[in-house]
Amino acid sequence: MNENYLISVEQFNRQSLEDLFNLAKDIKQNPSKYHDALSGKVIATLFYEPSTRTRLSFESAIARLGASNISTENAREFSSASKGETLEDTIRIIAGYSDAIVMRHYEDDSSEKAVKVSNVPIINAGAGKKEHPTQAILDVFTICEKFGTADNISILLGGDLKYGRTSHSLIKMLSLYKNVKLYGLSKPAFALPQEYIDFIHQNGMTYQAFTSFDEVPKDVNVIYHTRIQAERFEGDFGREEFIITQKVLDTFSKDTILLHPLPRCEEILPEVDNDPRAMYFVQAHNGIPTRMALLLKLLGE
Ligand code: CP
Repeated sequence: MNENYLISVEQFNRQSLEDLFNLAKDIKQNPSKYHDALSGKVIATLFYEPSTRTRLSFESAIARLGASNISTENAREFSSASKGETLEDTIRIIAGYSDAIVMRHYEDDSSEKAVKVSNVPIINAGAGKKEHPTQAILDVFTICEKFGTADNISILLGGDLKYGRTSHSLIKMLSLYKNVKLYGLSKPAFALPQEYIDFIHQNGMTYQAFTSFDEVPKDVNVIYHTRIQAERFEGDFGREEFIITQKVLDTFSKDTILLHPLPRCEEILPEVDNDPRAMYFVQAHNGIPTRMALLLKLLGE
């Protein structure tokens, strides 16, 4: 990652990602070392879509680095976007008030639009159905923390593979690793789009799609489950078919870990929360050191 912004996981190579992970590991082990690292900086969080984890973990990361935060948590309604201001004008203004802008937006190309007019770093905190790079960073960080590497990893991607930007960014980031086997489990209406299947094959990974829990390999290293992104399409998607109950989880290996970017709906039942393989809360908390590391890389001296 040579640029002073992050809009896509495609900006990383293996070395730059490992450098970021090493910094995140050090932050996790020695948080007090970094308490004043960004003292005097002002970082804006500009969210046009709802968020719990991404916005609040960024705001926590900003505080833990000694920087200040200015924030709009519902920019669609409470910023001057509601009066018709363009995204570009909003970014031009906030860039004058801050040293970096963390932005979530409902349009796929919003980060690219923002970067074009900003003279401070833009961090994509989720753009439409296309990318969620900081989620992929913490997802792969969590996988590497558990298995030592994401080389030779097998992952079952479940739920909404069509509209789920976290799965799309995760697939792209995993292309930096060797011998990655991907499996998909979704209703046909939420199957992985062909452009991502092509990307998988063009980048040395494998992909197999399934429509039933009975068919999937039970020795996968990771189940990465996601909710149906109901806010991204019109109409009813019907009943959730792929619900991880304790009985379902027990059909998988004792070494399989269960991840989810959260929020969950009914696709993972709370009854599995105490199973040691359920790592989605650890995963969400890894948002702090990874986002601190990213802010330091972009804004540190
Ligand atoms: N995983 C994630 O992006 O969660 P939020 O929508 O709560 O930020």
